[in-house]
Amino acid sequence: MIRGNLTRREFLATASTGAVAAVASGALPVYAGKSSKSGKLAIKGGKAVRTKPFQSWPIWDKSAEKDVIAILRSGDWFRGRGEKVIEFEKAYAELLGAKRCVCTVNGTNSLLTALHALDVGVGDEVIVSPYTFIATYNVVIGSVALPVFADTDPETFQIDPDKIEERITERTRAILPVHILGIPANMDRIMAIAKKHNLVVIEDACQGWLGEWRGKKLGTIGDLGCFSFQNSKHLPIGEGGAVVGNDDELMDRVWSYHNCGRPYRSVKKTSGYPIIGTNRRMTEYQAAVGLSQIKRLEGDTQKRNENAKYLTSKIKDIPGIVPHKLYDGVTRCAYHLYPFRYKKEQFNGAPRQKFLAALTAEGIPCSGGYGPQYRDELIEVALQSKNFTRSFPKARLNQYRKELDLPANDQLCKEAVWLYQNMLLGGKKDMDDIANAIAKVAENKDQLA
Ligand SMILES: Cc1ncc(COP(=O)(O)O)c(C=O)c1O
Repeated sequence: MIRGNLTRREFLATASTGAVAAVASGALPVYAGKSSKSGKLAIKGGKAVRTKPFQSWPIWDKSAEKDVIAILRSGDWFRGRGEKVIEFEKAYAELLGAKRCVCTVNGTNSLLTALHALDVGVGDEVIVSPYTFIATYNVVIGSVALPVFADTDPETFQIDPDKIEERITERTRAILPVHILGIPANMDRIMAIAKKHNLVVIEDACQGWLGEWRGKKLGTIGDLGCFSFQNSKHLPIGEGGAVVGNDDELMDRVWSYHNCGRPYRSVKKTSGYPIIGTNRRMTEYQAAVGLSQIKRLEGDTQKRNENAKYLTSKIKDIPGIVPHKLYDGVTRCAYHLYPFRYKKEQFNGAPRQKFLAALTAEGIPCSGGYGPQYRDELIEVALQSKNFTRSFPKARLNQYRKELDLPANDQLCKEAVWLYQNMLLGGKKDMDDIANAIAKVAENKDQLA
């Protein structure tokens, strides 16, 4: 049977022996089992593997309406006059096994609050992953601290623990690991490095709800953990965030700071306002929606993990497709995204953009993910700002510019392919469609030219 310029046998000959065995045992997608006509890629006018849309997001039920309307009618819309934010904070802390939780307006402000509460700010350096949503850069820069990037481990898409220590200077105060895509970073190594160098750890778990490292929930391992409940997230509220932690005094400071610096437990009433603060309070409406959403988080997380594992088993032997790996300490992922790498060398050099377009045309939404944002203007604008020129020696800023050389991350930004979390909420048939579409594009790679 001919597919493009490649017979099924030739296609398999390019795969590993293991892959051939996997096909024989039925573990690989057998796209070629379909009619030879469907070997024509959908971008070339062939029939798409899938036309059915995936699960839409967010999913919501009517149970939230009663509470939201009751709050509206009561006029008690802010946390000072209601119980919902307190209820949601308790429920989220309990779900994570964290001692305390303080909700905020969004994930960005949770991170800013955590940095402030741990006294990380002007003139400090924070080790951070370059492979992240821009908010992680923004909060460090916004605190007039230098975001010092440690290169990425392309196998896991996470900060490479082997690249952290070489970036530590006398100004380094914190490590800000991001559990990006909902995959846990290597917390054993990060915590050990932090301990050795006396650094604080703030986990950016904004994509990591209910992910686990050695049975501990992400966000509860470092000094503080930060979450986002934005619309696309697994616990969606529209906007919303949380800081979690186990140290009472620290969490008192978080609470006080997020509420205008008012006294709170150990933040003693020396005056009306004992510490500097801001207003990052969550509203009662947000908490009511959060309480309705929290109920589905555990079940959804289980489903995403089961489907991700199954999908990996189906695509792992397709030549040129490299699924993500997990560190040994990972006991559960959140899977905000499902990533793999695309090796164009095994696709006749076809650029990733062509592969993404072909996969999309087969009915599988996907994207190439983050770019090398450290090359964007924001970094240089910050370095030249009066805040930074006054807070860091010129020599340090010049050296920093040289450290923006991150070859592994550069390469990952060229090779990554993301599938979205809502696609992992379907059944096996949905995963088969994804795997079959990837296999179809791989088998017909000549058509990408
Ligand atoms: C890794 C990461 N950090 C921080 C944030 C910021 O969260 P928010 O959008 O709620 O401000 C996000 C949100 O997408 C994120 O993905």
